[in-house]
Amino acid sequence: GIDTHTHFQLPIMGTVTADDFYSGTKAALAGGTTMIIDFVVPEKGESLLDAYEKWRGWADAKVCCDYGLHVAVTWWSDQVAKEMEVLSSEKGVNSFKIYMAYKDVLMLEDPEMYSCFKRCKELKVLPMVHAENGHLIDIKSKELIEQGVTGPEGHLQSRPEACEVEATTRAIIIADQAGAPLYVVHVMGKTAADVISKARREGKIVFGETLASGLGTDGTHHFNKCWRHAAGHVMSPPLRDDVSTPGVLMDLLANNDLQLTGSDNCTYNADQKALGKDDFTRIPNGVNGVEDRMSVIWEKGVYSGKMDPCRFVAVTSTTAAKVFNIYPKKGRIAVGSDADIVIWNGEATRTISAKTHHQAVDFNIFEGLTCHGVPEYVITGGSIVLDEGQLKVTQAHGKFVPTAPNSQYVFGRIGTRDK
Ligand code: URP
Ligand code: ZN
Repeated sequence: GIDTHTHFQLPIMGTVTADDFYSGTKAALAGGTTMIIDFVVPEKGESLLDAYEKWRGWADAKVCCDYGLHVAVTWWSDQVAKEMEVLSSEKGVNSFKIYMAYKDVLMLEDPEMYSCFKRCKELKVLPMVHAENGHLIDIKSKELIEQGVTGPEGHLQSRPEACEVEATTRAIIIADQAGAPLYVVHVMGKTAADVISKARREGKIVFGETLASGLGTDGTHHFNKCWRHAAGHVMSPPLRDDVSTPGVLMDLLANNDLQLTGSDNCTYNADQKALGKDDFTRIPNGVNGVEDRMSVIWEKGVYSGKMDPCRFVAVTSTTAAKVFNIYPKKGRIAVGSDADIVIWNGEATRTISAKTHHQAVDFNIFEGLTCHGVPEYVITGGSIVLDEGQLKVTQAHGKFVPTAPNSQYVFGRIGTRDK
């Protein structure tokens, strides 16, 4: 399994995520994921290279499995454009994420986004977007707080699905005008997924990633009377309270309207979520998923009959390896490929619980869900780390996996079109 989207040890919103690179990668292996790709998130004005070195230091000392890095572009300047070149040609980074949300903190405006997409095109690296309309969210959040809505349900109400649809549409148009491909991270709404699907049918080079959370649970939990429970489900874009959403996202994933899956694992304990006790805008955003992604997708996708085991391998591993240009080193079992192997029992079951998971966080959004599909053996870099339920990982055993520019899976058609 390759998890395309994690945030271990992320410093954000005045705190740091509960799972670091040790507990996060340990949990990944326990669930059958043998590589994660995390995000370097520089502060506005911070050197991308300095931030990258900081993340490498944190991760290299702790990872139990292999990992790669995406880098977020949270501000724009000539320096940033130059550093993107160094990162892609010398540091093994072939993907850069732009936030269209988190106004004043991480968000870029459209002209900056266009410049960044153009730069990605020149460097043959993949631009990624967090697609939500940050200006509208800012306005709606203030309106809700003024009206006295301070609880976790305000998080959902301040970020309607329309904000995701609008930003997804805008990002696809801007990327297309810049001649760049586009990767939309954490697609949470079925209407945003439809936008991606339609763009692909029009010939645009767009990839849609959805999450274990969006496939395995829903946003009705924002209204739970237990504040901790509701806040435990706060993430962005939000889990949608339309209960048909997880099933529809799975249908789209099964049929290649969406292409791959991550977890966006970004966990906070109860005391950290409580930072937003009186104001939903201060609840740290993020949920678990790195340990449970594979089992949740097997249960909801394969056991339900929506996808076959080959499609499961594609959406949990192989497509990620192709998109991020590490195939066939990763994403394939063959002579010469890395010995990252999961022996999967599709009939065995396990019931997910915060009491038994391997993550450092005290909450699990899939609490009580019984999944068919359990890893029996997990091998990472040739070492057996899970053996019939016995987990024995080694800190710093994992390695950084550089990702080279010009993935043919992404840029092949673009090169031909340009010619
Ligand atoms: O809620 C989320 N997704 N937290 C992590 C930061 C991000 O937006 O990816
Ligand atoms: Zn994320």
